[in-house]
Amino acid sequence: MRLKNKITAVTGAGSGIGKAAAQTFAREGAVVLLLEKDEKAGREAEQEILSAGGQAVFYGLDISDWNAVQSVFAQIDKQYGGIDVLYNNASVFWGELDNTIDKLDVDIFEKIIRINLFGMMYCSKASLPLLRKRGGGSIINTSSSCGLIGIPGCDSYSASKGATISLTRSMAVEFGPEKIRTNCIAPAAIHTPMIYESDLNKSTFDEQHFLNEGTPLRRWGTAQDIANIALFLASEEGSYMNGAVLVADGGITVS
Ligand SMILES: NC(=O)c1ccc[n+]([C@@H]2O[C@H](COP(=O)([O-])OP(=O)(O)OC[C@H]3O[C@@H](n4cnc5c(N)ncnc54)[C@H](O)[C@@H]3O)[C@@H](O)[C@H]2O)c1
Repeated sequence: MRLKNKITAVTGAGSGIGKAAAQTFAREGAVVLLLEKDEKAGREAEQEILSAGGQAVFYGLDISDWNAVQSVFAQIDKQYGGIDVLYNNASVFWGELDNTIDKLDVDIFEKIIRINLFGMMYCSKASLPLLRKRGGGSIINTSSSCGLIGIPGCDSYSASKGATISLTRSMAVEFGPEKIRTNCIAPAAIHTPMIYESDLNKSTFDEQHFLNEGTPLRRWGTAQDIANIALFLASEEGSYMNGAVLVADGGITVS
Protein backbone atom coordinates (compact mmCIF):
# COMPACT_ATOMS: atom_id res chain seq x y z
CA MET A 1 0.00 0.00 0.00
CA ARG A 2 2.61 2.49 -1.11
CA LEU A 3 0.00 5.10 -2.10
CA LYS A 4 -2.61 4.53 0.59
CA ASN A 5 -5.36 7.16 0.21
CA LYS A 6 -3.13 9.37 -1.91
CA ILE A 7 -5.05 11.45 -4.43
CA THR A 8 -3.48 10.66 -7.79
CA ALA A 9 -4.46 12.11 -11.18
CA VAL A 10 -3.47 10.21 -14.32
CA THR A 11 -4.02 11.76 -17.76
CA GLY A 12 -4.74 9.42 -20.64
CA ALA A 13 -5.80 6.74 -18.17
CA GLY A 14 -8.10 4.96 -20.61
CA SER A 15 -5.42 3.11 -22.56
CA GLY A 16 -1.92 1.68 -22.57
CA ILE A 17 0.54 3.00 -20.02
CA GLY A 18 -1.94 5.37 -18.31
CA LYS A 19 -4.43 2.58 -17.75
CA ALA A 20 -1.77 0.24 -16.34
CA ALA A 21 -0.51 3.03 -14.07
CA ALA A 22 -4.03 3.83 -12.86
CA GLN A 23 -4.58 0.16 -11.99
CA THR A 24 -1.19 -0.04 -10.28
CA PHE A 25 -1.80 3.11 -8.24
CA ALA A 26 -5.24 1.78 -7.23
CA ARG A 27 -3.75 -1.57 -6.12
CA GLU A 28 -1.37 0.44 -3.92
CA GLY A 29 -4.31 2.11 -2.17
CA ALA A 30 -4.56 5.38 -4.10
CA VAL A 31 -7.70 7.25 -5.08
CA VAL A 32 -7.17 7.40 -8.84
CA LEU A 33 -8.64 10.25 -10.88
CA LEU A 34 -8.79 9.14 -14.50
CA LEU A 35 -8.44 12.23 -16.72
CA GLU A 36 -9.26 10.95 -20.19
CA LYS A 37 -10.62 12.36 -23.43
CA ASP A 38 -12.15 9.08 -24.62
CA GLU A 39 -15.24 8.73 -22.44
CA LYS A 40 -15.88 5.04 -23.22
CA ALA A 41 -12.29 4.05 -22.46
CA GLY A 42 -12.19 6.22 -19.34
CA ARG A 43 -15.42 4.76 -17.95
CA GLU A 44 -14.25 1.21 -18.67
CA ALA A 45 -10.97 1.85 -16.87
CA GLU A 46 -12.90 3.32 -13.93
CA GLN A 47 -15.23 0.30 -13.81
CA GLU A 48 -12.34 -2.18 -13.91
CA ILE A 49 -10.64 -0.52 -10.93
CA LEU A 50 -13.91 -0.32 -8.96
CA SER A 51 -14.67 -3.99 -9.72
CA ALA A 52 -11.22 -4.95 -8.41
CA GLY A 53 -12.03 -3.13 -5.14
CA GLY A 54 -10.05 0.03 -5.90
CA GLN A 55 -10.96 3.71 -5.72
CA ALA A 56 -11.35 5.47 -9.09
CA VAL A 57 -13.25 8.41 -10.59
CA PHE A 58 -13.42 9.20 -14.30
CA TYR A 59 -13.28 12.84 -15.44
CA GLY A 60 -13.84 13.53 -19.15
CA LEU A 61 -11.03 15.90 -20.13
CA ASP A 62 -9.23 17.07 -23.23
CA ILE A 63 -5.91 18.20 -21.76
CA SER A 64 -5.33 20.61 -24.65
CA ASP A 65 -8.33 22.72 -23.55
CA TRP A 66 -7.13 25.15 -20.86
CA ASN A 67 -10.64 26.11 -19.72
CA ALA A 68 -11.60 22.45 -19.35
CA VAL A 69 -8.39 21.69 -17.44
CA GLN A 70 -9.06 24.54 -15.00
CA SER A 71 -12.63 23.38 -14.51
CA VAL A 72 -11.66 19.74 -13.81
CA PHE A 73 -8.93 20.69 -11.33
CA ALA A 74 -11.38 23.07 -9.59
CA GLN A 75 -13.80 20.13 -9.22
CA ILE A 76 -10.99 17.93 -7.89
CA ASP A 77 -9.97 20.62 -5.43
CA LYS A 78 -13.54 20.96 -4.19
CA GLN A 79 -13.95 17.21 -3.84
CA TYR A 80 -10.55 16.26 -2.37
CA GLY A 81 -8.92 19.49 -1.14
CA GLY A 82 -5.75 18.88 -3.13
CA ILE A 83 -3.80 16.15 -4.90
CA ASP A 84 -0.62 14.23 -4.13
CA VAL A 85 0.41 12.96 -7.55
CA LEU A 86 -0.06 14.16 -11.12
CA TYR A 87 0.98 11.72 -13.84
CA ASN A 88 1.13 13.65 -17.12
CA ASN A 89 0.85 10.62 -19.38
CA ALA A 90 -1.57 11.53 -22.19
CA SER A 91 -0.14 12.31 -25.62
CA VAL A 92 -0.75 11.63 -29.27
CA PHE A 93 1.58 10.16 -31.88
CA TRP A 94 -0.05 10.78 -35.21
CA GLY A 95 2.11 8.62 -37.46
CA GLU A 96 0.15 9.38 -40.63
CA LEU A 97 0.07 13.14 -40.08
CA ASP A 98 3.36 13.97 -38.39
CA ASN A 99 6.37 14.27 -40.68
CA THR A 100 9.75 15.85 -41.35
CA ILE A 101 9.39 19.64 -41.08
CA ASP A 102 9.81 20.22 -44.81
CA LYS A 103 6.71 18.11 -45.50
CA LEU A 104 4.83 18.82 -42.29
CA ASP A 105 1.58 20.80 -42.26
CA VAL A 106 2.13 23.63 -39.76
CA ASP A 107 -1.37 23.14 -38.36
CA ILE A 108 -0.53 19.54 -37.50
CA PHE A 109 2.63 20.69 -35.75
CA GLU A 110 0.57 23.14 -33.71
CA LYS A 111 -2.10 20.55 -32.84
CA ILE A 112 0.41 17.95 -31.65
CA ILE A 113 2.37 20.50 -29.61
CA ARG A 114 -0.90 21.78 -28.13
CA ILE A 115 -1.87 18.32 -26.90
CA ASN A 116 1.50 16.90 -25.87
CA LEU A 117 3.26 20.00 -24.53
CA PHE A 118 0.55 22.54 -23.69
CA GLY A 119 -1.58 19.74 -22.21
CA MET A 120 1.24 18.75 -19.89
CA MET A 121 1.85 22.39 -18.97
CA TYR A 122 -1.88 23.09 -18.43
CA CYS A 123 -2.35 20.11 -16.08
CA SER A 124 0.85 20.92 -14.19
CA LYS A 125 -0.10 24.60 -13.82
CA ALA A 126 -3.62 23.75 -12.64
CA SER A 127 -2.37 21.08 -10.23
CA LEU A 128 0.32 23.16 -8.49
CA PRO A 129 -2.06 24.92 -6.05
CA LEU A 130 -3.57 21.51 -5.23
CA LEU A 131 -0.14 19.93 -4.64
CA ARG A 132 0.82 22.88 -2.43
CA LYS A 133 -2.31 22.32 -0.34
CA ARG A 134 -1.04 18.82 0.48
CA GLY A 135 2.40 20.15 1.42
CA GLY A 136 4.08 18.76 -1.70
CA GLY A 137 3.84 15.81 -4.00
CA SER A 138 5.03 14.25 -7.24
CA ILE A 139 4.59 15.30 -10.86
CA ILE A 140 5.54 12.67 -13.43
CA ASN A 141 5.96 13.82 -17.02
CA THR A 142 6.29 11.66 -20.11
CA SER A 143 8.94 12.09 -22.75
CA SER A 144 10.13 9.46 -25.24
CA SER A 145 13.24 8.21 -27.01
CA CYS A 146 12.28 10.95 -29.51
CA GLY A 147 13.14 13.53 -26.85
CA LEU A 148 16.64 12.07 -26.49
CA ILE A 149 17.84 11.04 -29.93
CA GLY A 150 17.00 12.03 -33.49
CA ILE A 151 14.19 9.86 -34.85
CA PRO A 152 13.10 10.84 -38.35
CA GLY A 153 9.55 11.50 -39.52
CA CYS A 154 7.81 12.60 -36.33
CA ASP A 155 9.14 16.12 -35.80
CA SER A 156 6.10 17.53 -33.96
CA TYR A 157 6.10 14.63 -31.52
CA SER A 158 9.89 14.87 -31.05
CA ALA A 159 9.73 18.62 -30.40
CA SER A 160 7.00 18.10 -27.80
CA LYS A 161 8.97 15.34 -26.07
CA GLY A 162 12.26 17.28 -26.04
CA ALA A 163 10.51 20.30 -24.53
CA THR A 164 8.94 18.01 -21.92
CA ILE A 165 12.41 17.12 -20.64
CA SER A 166 13.46 20.79 -20.45
CA LEU A 167 10.28 21.78 -18.63
CA THR A 168 10.68 18.85 -16.23
CA ARG A 169 14.11 20.13 -15.23
CA SER A 170 12.90 23.72 -14.74
CA MET A 171 9.94 22.58 -12.69
CA ALA A 172 12.17 20.37 -10.53
CA VAL A 173 14.35 23.34 -9.63
CA GLU A 174 11.45 25.77 -9.25
CA PHE A 175 9.08 23.67 -7.15
CA GLY A 176 11.53 21.38 -5.34
CA PRO A 177 11.76 23.82 -2.40
CA GLU A 178 8.00 23.32 -1.94
CA LYS A 179 8.53 19.53 -1.77
CA ILE A 180 6.99 19.09 -5.20
CA ARG A 181 9.22 16.65 -7.11
CA THR A 182 9.07 16.67 -10.90
CA ASN A 183 10.50 13.81 -12.91
CA CYS A 184 10.10 12.40 -16.36
CA ILE A 185 9.90 8.92 -17.89
CA ALA A 186 11.26 8.44 -21.41
CA PRO A 187 9.90 5.15 -22.79
CA ALA A 188 10.31 3.52 -26.20
CA ALA A 189 8.80 0.48 -27.89
CA ILE A 190 6.08 -0.15 -25.33
CA HIS A 191 3.41 -2.45 -26.72
CA THR A 192 0.29 -0.29 -26.44
CA PRO A 193 -2.29 0.95 -28.98
CA MET A 194 0.02 3.93 -29.70
CA ILE A 195 2.64 1.80 -31.46
CA TYR A 196 0.09 0.92 -34.15
CA GLU A 197 0.39 4.60 -35.13
CA SER A 198 4.04 3.97 -35.95
CA ASP A 199 5.87 1.60 -38.27
CA LEU A 200 4.08 -1.46 -36.92
CA ASN A 201 1.13 -0.61 -39.11
CA LYS A 202 3.16 -0.65 -42.30
CA SER A 203 3.19 -3.84 -44.37
CA THR A 204 6.96 -3.41 -44.81
CA PHE A 205 7.56 -3.56 -41.05
CA ASP A 206 9.33 -6.77 -40.00
CA GLU A 207 8.48 -7.12 -36.32
CA GLN A 208 10.84 -10.03 -35.65
CA HIS A 209 13.72 -8.21 -37.31
CA PHE A 210 12.98 -5.10 -35.22
CA LEU A 211 12.92 -7.09 -31.98
CA ASN A 212 16.11 -9.02 -32.82
CA GLU A 213 18.14 -6.15 -34.24
CA GLY A 214 16.60 -3.01 -32.73
CA THR A 215 15.90 -3.96 -29.12
CA PRO A 216 18.77 -5.11 -26.87
CA LEU A 217 16.31 -6.99 -24.62
CA ARG A 218 14.78 -8.63 -27.73
CA ARG A 219 11.22 -7.81 -26.71
CA TRP A 220 8.61 -5.08 -26.58
CA GLY A 221 8.23 -3.23 -23.31
CA THR A 222 4.92 -3.57 -21.52
CA ALA A 223 2.66 -0.88 -20.12
CA GLN A 224 3.30 -2.46 -16.71
CA ASP A 225 7.08 -1.95 -17.14
CA ILE A 226 6.40 1.79 -17.26
CA ALA A 227 3.65 1.78 -14.63
CA ASN A 228 6.15 0.29 -12.17
CA ILE A 229 8.48 3.25 -12.70
CA ALA A 230 5.60 5.69 -12.32
CA LEU A 231 4.72 4.01 -9.01
CA PHE A 232 8.31 4.41 -7.82
CA LEU A 233 8.30 8.13 -8.72
CA ALA A 234 4.85 8.67 -7.20
CA SER A 235 5.67 6.96 -3.91
CA GLU A 236 8.02 7.69 -1.04
CA GLU A 237 10.49 5.24 -2.57
CA GLY A 238 11.30 7.97 -5.09
CA SER A 239 11.53 10.67 -2.44
CA TYR A 240 14.98 11.93 -3.50
CA MET A 241 14.22 11.82 -7.23
CA ASN A 242 13.76 15.32 -8.66
CA GLY A 243 14.51 16.48 -12.21
CA ALA A 244 15.42 12.98 -13.34
CA VAL A 245 14.76 11.54 -16.77
CA LEU A 246 14.25 7.80 -16.36
CA VAL A 247 14.93 6.18 -19.71
CA ALA A 248 12.86 3.01 -19.96
CA ASP A 249 13.46 1.59 -23.39
CA GLY A 250 15.23 -1.75 -22.90
CA GLY A 251 18.46 -0.13 -24.07
CA ILE A 252 17.25 1.08 -27.47
CA THR A 253 18.68 4.59 -27.18
CA VAL A 254 22.12 3.37 -26.07
CA SER A 255 22.49 0.69 -28.74
N1 LIG B 1 4.00 3.23 -26.45
C1 LIG B 1 5.24 3.63 -26.61
O1 LIG B 1 6.08 2.92 -27.17
C2 LIG B 1 5.68 4.98 -26.10
C3 LIG B 1 6.99 5.38 -26.38
C4 LIG B 1 7.43 6.62 -25.93
C5 LIG B 1 6.59 7.43 -25.22
N2 LIG B 1 5.31 7.04 -24.97
C6 LIG B 1 4.46 7.96 -24.24
O2 LIG B 1 3.75 7.28 -23.22
C7 LIG B 1 2.50 7.94 -23.00
C8 LIG B 1 1.38 6.92 -23.06
O3 LIG B 1 1.39 6.31 -24.33
P1 LIG B 1 0.60 4.97 -24.68
O4 LIG B 1 1.52 4.18 -25.51
O5 LIG B 1 0.01 4.40 -23.47
O6 LIG B 1 -0.53 5.58 -25.65
P2 LIG B 1 -2.07 5.20 -25.89
O7 LIG B 1 -2.38 5.80 -27.21
O8 LIG B 1 -2.29 3.75 -25.68
O9 LIG B 1 -2.83 6.00 -24.74
C9 LIG B 1 -2.90 7.40 -24.74
C10 LIG B 1 -4.14 7.82 -24.00
O10 LIG B 1 -4.16 9.26 -23.96
C11 LIG B 1 -5.46 9.70 -24.28
N3 LIG B 1 -5.42 11.05 -24.83
C12 LIG B 1 -4.93 11.42 -26.04
N4 LIG B 1 -5.11 12.72 -26.23
C13 LIG B 1 -5.71 13.20 -25.11
C14 LIG B 1 -6.15 14.47 -24.72
N5 LIG B 1 -6.04 15.53 -25.53
N6 LIG B 1 -6.73 14.62 -23.51
C15 LIG B 1 -6.86 13.54 -22.69
N7 LIG B 1 -6.47 12.30 -23.01
C16 LIG B 1 -5.90 12.13 -24.22
C17 LIG B 1 -5.97 8.68 -25.28
O11 LIG B 1 -7.39 8.72 -25.42
C18 LIG B 1 -5.44 7.39 -24.70
O12 LIG B 1 -6.34 6.85 -23.76
C19 LIG B 1 2.42 9.03 -24.06
O13 LIG B 1 2.86 10.26 -23.51
C20 LIG B 1 3.41 8.59 -25.11
O14 LIG B 1 3.91 9.65 -25.89
C21 LIG B 1 4.84 5.83 -25.41
